[in-house]
Amino acid sequence: MGQNILLVGPPGAGKGTQAKILAEQLKIPQLSTGDILRANKAAGKLTPELTKAMDNGGLVPDEVVIDLIVDRMQQPDALNGALFDGFPRTVVQAEALKAMLGKRGKRIDVAIAIEVDPALLIERTVLRRTDKRTGQIYHLKYNPPPPDAELVHRADDTEVAVKKRLDAYARDTSAVIPFYEKEGVLKRVDGVGDVGEVTKRIFAALGV
Ligand code: AP5
Repeated sequence: MGQNILLVGPPGAGKGTQAKILAEQLKIPQLSTGDILRANKAAGKLTPELTKAMDNGGLVPDEVVIDLIVDRMQQPDALNGALFDGFPRTVVQAEALKAMLGKRGKRIDVAIAIEVDPALLIERTVLRRTDKRTGQIYHLKYNPPPPDAELVHRADDTEVAVKKRLDAYARDTSAVIPFYEKEGVLKRVDGVGDVGEVTKRIFAALGV
């Protein structure tokens, strides 16, 4: 039976990098609200207000992301467990997810909080590049892309926007951690070190 796992952590903590590895190895889909929003934006389906909120480093309203995740959770591949990446980001979203899973007789099995020294996060995000063909995440210093990659620099990966995203994390998202602590499913993982080393720590926290 697939588990329902979530990754929470500040911008640049490595959620997307780890989510791709874990989803593949655990054979559950990665449900990333950031990726869904960016795909909607690229397809011209996001309103100018939502695009501006994202690009400036603010959060998108709860009701918008909750609708997106409800839709995604109804797709067949997500009926038997999923890896939530970047959702929930507020306690309202965490309550909504609890209710959605509860209707299926399920719950979040493990919430992994990836912890990284805030001093590293600006460099991690500003120097991130993604290959638009494969979705692979690179870093110009720590994980350089191959020469043939078609690199995209995210609109919200500027120093100004990242500082706003860090503020939004401190103000709204960090409260998700005590929420899952109370639920008895929180595991904290040190996110500093090689990507493979962090993956090992997450698997140890999952008990796999
Ligand atoms: P989202 O896409 O979720 O962004 P985020 O949470 O800010 O996280 P990031 O993607 O920046 O970082 P990450 O932790 O995934 O790090 P990564 O693995 O890429 O959301 C974007 C926006 O969408 C939000 O600001 C908001 O507007 C909106 N949104 C999304 N979900 C929402 C929600 N639920 N509610 C409301 N609004 C929502 O790694 C970062 C870099 O570090 C990469 O270059 C990587 O190569 C490198 N790296 C990774 N691991 C390591 C390591 N161990 N050592 C060295 N470098 C590493």
